[in-house]
Amino acid sequence: MKRIRLVIASMALLLMPVLAKATVPIVPLPVSVSVEEGKTFRINRALTASVQGGDSVKRVADTLFSMLPGKVKMKSKGGVIRFVTNADLGPEAYSIDITAKNITIAASRPAGFFYAVQTISQLLAQNKESLPVMKLTDEPRFGWRGFMLDEGRHFFGKDEVKRILDVMALYKMNRFHWHLTDDQGWRIEIKKYPRLTEVGAWRSSEVLGWDTIKPVPLDEPYGGFYTQDDIREIVAYAKDRFIEVMPEIDVPGHTLAAVASYPEILACEPKKKYELWEYQGITDDVMNVANPEAVQMTKDIIDELIPLFPFEYIHLGGDECPTSKWKVNEQCINRLKEIGSDNYRDLQLDYYRKLQDYIKTKPESEQRKLVFWNEVLHGNTKMLDDDITIMAWVGADKAALEAANRGLETILTPQIPYYINRKQSTDPGEPHTQGRGTETVEVVYNYVPMKNVPDNLNSKYKGVQANFWSEYVPDGKLLEYLILPRLAAVAEAGWTPQDQRSYTDFVERIRRHVPIYKSRNLNYAPHIF
Ligand code: ACM
Repeated sequence: MKRIRLVIASMALLLMPVLAKATVPIVPLPVSVSVEEGKTFRINRALTASVQGGDSVKRVADTLFSMLPGKVKMKSKGGVIRFVTNADLGPEAYSIDITAKNITIAASRPAGFFYAVQTISQLLAQNKESLPVMKLTDEPRFGWRGFMLDEGRHFFGKDEVKRILDVMALYKMNRFHWHLTDDQGWRIEIKKYPRLTEVGAWRSSEVLGWDTIKPVPLDEPYGGFYTQDDIREIVAYAKDRFIEVMPEIDVPGHTLAAVASYPEILACEPKKKYELWEYQGITDDVMNVANPEAVQMTKDIIDELIPLFPFEYIHLGGDECPTSKWKVNEQCINRLKEIGSDNYRDLQLDYYRKLQDYIKTKPESEQRKLVFWNEVLHGNTKMLDDDITIMAWVGADKAALEAANRGLETILTPQIPYYINRKQSTDPGEPHTQGRGTETVEVVYNYVPMKNVPDNLNSKYKGVQANFWSEYVPDGKLLEYLILPRLAAVAEAGWTPQDQRSYTDFVERIRRHVPIYKSRNLNYAPHIF
């Protein structure tokens, strides 16, 4: 705000009339933008352009050129639209300088150019004929601006995932956390364990009401999964949009789909008959972490994940893992004694320790850091190397602070208000979705990341993330309705400095994104529009 006010004030001194920032409907709000009222760059059909920075910048530039009406003639330098390298800018930073005659876009890295193009695309959605004369400089507050999609409960499929990645790109989000396994479904092909998807991806009944209501049998099994080719396709699609994909294999809780597929390896009671979970909430039929074969199977799965997901982080879940079955299992009781603890959560950490040790034996290019939900803090995290990251969801601010105090990195994904699967209005007509609470766009917007964090712990906070759990969200249309526009509110928290954020200003800007949603045939919640 201060910088914008300064810019506005100094331009007023030059007797240049200036529009208020909300007239530039860019989301997330850029760090600094000043517009010259009444002056425009007219987009004609015969534009010239030059691009510095190599093939990946050229590909980004081409996405901008494809939005323009005529054919853009390339020059080796100069031209009307110029992509220029500025090594002083941060890895995701960019600047845009639009005069009546030229557009100059500067960045140090392809990602910065990509974000500049997203900004211009939002302006073009308002007016295809001209762009405002303006100067803009921008860079994100956080390096991690994430969205998690749960496909364990419902399977949305490749096309919907791509639509969501496009929305993330529009709002400059850069981390797609893909929750691929849960009690209700296993959604990723693992070649060494084909039953994970032959059995684990299909369920024969479905909950249509709240957890108190029994699942109803289905005529046909419900499910689906991604082949490894599908996964590669999505990861490449995301990469083209500067989004890293972090897979989550949620272990050792939330694993009934896997346990039902391989009870002889994974189950605490291998002789019991298991079926996929069809309720909401959790089951206590968790994996037997003290069985060396279960540990080996998890390592084998990690071996298949690593080449599919080049991003440096893998999420291994860790949330909501009841220990009741371990407490009556001989192997688990003995293993806990061996490690010298009486806290069953440490049995879970002992299992993670083995996985972490295993990954650390791999060559440099296959090293991955592990991310866990914050329940892992209920165990002795000293059992693990401190390069783990804690995703703070329940009591998020407190949990994140605890993680940071233990020397661990953390990501803020507060259940309230960043679980954007919950209702966004108390209107009686609101569709039934996962979670009992209601968080309006305003409530989501007004969450303040890193409130009261001591300065010495700042560097432990990697960023923010919205999560989406899909128990009661059977299709992409409802998914889109729930995330739009709330995902944009989270994106702004991840990007824009806190002292420049204002809900009323956000509403003014986001209202003007309806044409973008319409042009992409995206469903969105109408409440604030
Ligand atoms: C979670 O919401 N169980 C991470």
